Amino acid sequence: MSVIIPPSLPAARIDRDWRATYYQDMADAVFFSDADFEQYKAFIYKESGITFTPTNRSILESRLKERLRGIGIDSVKTYFVKISTDKEELKNFLDTITTNLTRFFRNQAHFDALERYVIPELIKIKQKTGNNTIKIWSAGCSTGEEPYTIAMLLSEILPSPWKFEILASDISLKCLMTAKEGFYQENRIVGIPDSYLKKYFDKVEGGYKIHANLMSKIRFDYHNLKNDSGQRNLDLVFCRNVIIYFDETAQTAVINRFWDAMASKSFLFIGHSESLFGMKTQFEFVKTEWATFYRKFV
Ligand SMILES: C[S@@+](CC[C@H](N)C(=O)[O-])C[C@H]1O[C@@H](n2cnc3c(N)ncnc32)[C@H](O)[C@@H]1O
Repeated sequence: MSVIIPPSLPAARIDRDWRATYYQDMADAVFFSDADFEQYKAFIYKESGITFTPTNRSILESRLKERLRGIGIDSVKTYFVKISTDKEELKNFLDTITTNLTRFFRNQAHFDALERYVIPELIKIKQKTGNNTIKIWSAGCSTGEEPYTIAMLLSEILPSPWKFEILASDISLKCLMTAKEGFYQENRIVGIPDSYLKKYFDKVEGGYKIHANLMSKIRFDYHNLKNDSGQRNLDLVFCRNVIIYFDETAQTAVINRFWDAMASKSFLFIGHSESLFGMKTQFEFVKTEWATFYRKFV
């Protein structure tokens, strides 16, 4: 916090005008007042479901400063008018405030459960329908490590003639650009088994690039989870480490939209620190020896 020391003035000059100017300067020096915070908080929640609390207010403040610096605006009030009226800038703003941490094979136990339980179950279920394509959605895919992990694993384990298709979506356009490019620096490559690295990546200058064939299995798209995706009959949804940023009302709305998007027998993975416990949903909790997840079985 910066403190403005009032200049020492001759007593005769300490009049009303001077005080008015001084206190106005003080107000301007407060970059992000409590009232601004409340206004931004309500707006962000309405536009994305992301919930800021007094505890993570400083994160919002520093990301906001970064964006304002980037586009040369110096007041959060001016910027608020901009994001309320300019849809493109609203997207940039939401991009700025998201947390995009991810990695390949994040929470390996989920992929063990996918390989040993979920995929064999789905094959049994779908065999009866004559449809041999497994439809997957990686919702909140960030820079693509999650959908590429799923794609590598399914390429390895799905027996012929089974196929899969993945929709990967996020609210962050920057992340989606990285994901679509499929280029990862050396330090992002950790956790990928050597055999996968050889088979699904090309070594290029400064890092690795995903093979075009694997990329072609994934469709990256902008989607804000506060809206209906229009997806139906999905066999598998991954939405890990996303709803943790939402409050309970927004979480319930997103989870119920997944329900509508999923096939009558299908599976849902959420992050290991996330839970549907106490939530009004019809998903059933499934505990396997590898990991826990949810299923829709109607
Ligand atoms: C922490 S990352 C998780 C990435 C990946 N699922 C994983 O577990 O490694 C959370 C992602 O959710 C996205 N996100 C947050 N709110 C969203 C919303 N309302 N709609 C779509 N994506 C959202 C963020 O942009 C971010 O990339």
